[in-house]
Order: sequence, then structure tokens, then C-alpha cells
Amino acid sequence: MRREVIEGAKTPLYLYDTALLRRSLDAVTASQPAGSVVHYALKANSNRRILQIIVHAGMGADCVSGNEIRLALEAGISADKVVYSGVGKTDEEIAYALSQSIACFNVESVEELQVIDEIACEQGVVAPVALRVNPHVDAHTHHYITTGLSENKFGIDISMLDEVVEQAVALRNVRLRGLHFHIGSQIVNLEPYRLLCARVNELQSRYAERGLSMDYINVGGGLGVDYDTPEENPIPDFAGFFGVFKSQLQLREGQTLHFELGRSIVCQCGLLVTRVLYIKKGLDRTFAIVDAGMTDLLRPALYGARHKIDNISSSEGRCWYDVVGPVCESSDCFGRDVELPQTRRGDILVIRSAGAYGESMAMQYNSRKLPGVVFSDDIE
Ligand code: LLP
Repeated sequence: MRREVIEGAKTPLYLYDTALLRRSLDAVTASQPAGSVVHYALKANSNRRILQIIVHAGMGADCVSGNEIRLALEAGISADKVVYSGVGKTDEEIAYALSQSIACFNVESVEELQVIDEIACEQGVVAPVALRVNPHVDAHTHHYITTGLSENKFGIDISMLDEVVEQAVALRNVRLRGLHFHIGSQIVNLEPYRLLCARVNELQSRYAERGLSMDYINVGGGLGVDYDTPEENPIPDFAGFFGVFKSQLQLREGQTLHFELGRSIVCQCGLLVTRVLYIKKGLDRTFAIVDAGMTDLLRPALYGARHKIDNISSSEGRCWYDVVGPVCESSDCFGRDVELPQTRRGDILVIRSAGAYGESMAMQYNSRKLPGVVFSDDIE
């Protein structure tokens, strides 16, 4: 990546390393279980050019809104590889998804199931559905991004599942294809996935005994990335992740296994590039005030997330800064006591591991502009 191009660019901007994205996609396809389908979770990053590269790798899409479905289809993902999750699907979104003949609705409540049935009936079609099960598996991740515990709003509680399965089977305009799970995000220890496999196996035996056949098992996404030393681990351990499912999950005949990976595919290929506006000495700390803010990358402000920050303009000395943005909120801080070389006005800082939930969560609070975007393909 040419430093002078970055230094001359208008900041803040997202810079995507497309070669790294391609290598990550290759690592996914090389290690995913034979016959499985990976549905890329668009919420992590729905930039059109990123989507095009992902489509090229043959992935499906995991969508959480009507607009995400539209983007996936426009990018060239075929409808039979699109799945649709989310606790609050509107009638309009359901009608649109049905009209496009998507592969599966991951249904999160009884009432949603009934509404899908009604709308499918109006359209004269049968909706393919899977029930999203809350399996009570602790993903040991940030409480804002854990989803598989009984206190979470997601999924149907495992204790209520039998009843909902019966209701689904009785409805005329839905076809129960299988079960869906997603236990959380930024999961770095693989143990929760082993527990998930055990839960899925138990449920499978239960329903097989009752003669219920299912062809769709979706275990969601959530594989974490290395935010502390991203240069050492630019590609997540896909082989380890998929290996758990290969060794622990007992699929039945005719079943297809589905995954919904987002962060692990796109996170390390994106950097947020920002320029130092001012160095300000406080009473007991020094602030590096940069031109990117929480509006461009919300994760630190929202979750206290830490992203590695480097100064690419300077290498002399060792100092400590609170790297903060210009937005009128105290939480607009990318890191406290960040060790950097001597930093001055005009220096370029890069905030790493920003390819997932960065650009896609950007907003315009304080009437700020959205960040710019550059691809390595265009500047190398
Ligand atoms: N499937 C479902 C049903 C999900 O809710 C999610 C993410 C995914 C798949 C993809 O998960 P991934 O592989 O990306 O971990 N904004 C937060 C993350 C929110 C994740 C929401 N659900 C963050 O910046 O950490």
C-alpha cells in the first residue's frame, strides 16, 4: 500500500486491502465442511465492492433487513442462497423476501411465524422457515454481542421449542426446513461451539425420534478476530472453527449445514485512516485529537472495544496519548493511554481491524460527513 497516497488522501477514510479479503475468502472455502454453505453476514460490511468480491467466492448471504436482501441480490447472490434473520421483520420486508423466493426465513417468535404464514397465504406461496433456537450457550463475549442466553431477545427459548415446532408443522403456508442458532459475536475460544454442537445433536435426536425431517441446520457465525496483534494474525482460524463442526456435529442424511460468518471474513482487511488535528496537553494526559470520530467507527464508544492504532508518519520516541475524535461526546475516544511515537499535527494514524462493523455502522451525528472509501486495487 503506497504511503504517499494515503498521506495525500482526504481523511477520515476506510482503506480496504482487497488482496487480504481474497486470501481470507480462500481460507474459508478451503476449510469449510464439504457441501456446507457460508452465508456472508452483510451487516458486518455491505459496501458494494466488498460484496462483489464475496459473491465471486461463491458465498450466500445472511440478511437482517429488506434492504440487505436487495443489496445481496443486486450484488449477484442468488436468492436460493439468501437467508433472512432478525427479531423485527416488518410485513413489508416479509412480503418482499417472499416475492424474491429466498432460501429461508430464520424465525424468532411464534407471532412472526404466524405473520409469515398469513403473508405467504396472500401471495399463494409456501414460505421456507427455520426456527431460531436460543440454546443457552454462553459465548463468553461482550454482553452487548452475546445472543444465546435466556436473557437475550433473540431466538425461541429451547424450553419452548417443542410447542413452536408443533405450531409450525400445523401451518399451511410455511414449510419447516430446520433449525437456526447464533450464539454471539467475537468468539475467540472455540469451546462454546463444541457446546452448541452438543445441543444441536440432542435436538436432532429428539426430532428424529418423532419422525420430523429437517434438511437445514444453520449454526450462525461469530468467529472472532485478533484485535490486539492483527498483523500477526490477519486471517482468523477458519480451519479450527470449521474443524469443531466437522468433528462434533452429527448431521442426518439429506441435511445441509449452513454458517453465517461476518466479522471474520472482512474485519482485518479494513483500516480507518485518520489525520491528527491537534495535540492538546491536559493536566495529566495528552490528547491526540483526530479527524475521525465515533460517527465513523462506533465500536470503541459503544462497546469499549479496542482497536490497534499506529502512527504511520512518525517513528521517533515513545509517548502516550488519549486518541479522541471531534464529536461532542466524552465516549468519542478510540483509546486511552495509547503508546505511539512522538505525534504531531498532520500525522496519519491508522486504526486497524476496522473492516467489520465499521463503515456499516457509520452515521452522521453532529451533521458530519460519512467517511471516504478507498480500495487497495485502485492505488497499487
Ligand atoms: N448471524 C446472526 C443471526 C447475527 O446476529 C450475526 C451478528 C451474525 C450472523 C454475524 O456474526 P459475526 O460472524 O459477524 O460475528 N456490531 C457488533 C457485532 C454485532 C453482531 C450482530 N450479529 C460489533 O461491532 O462487535
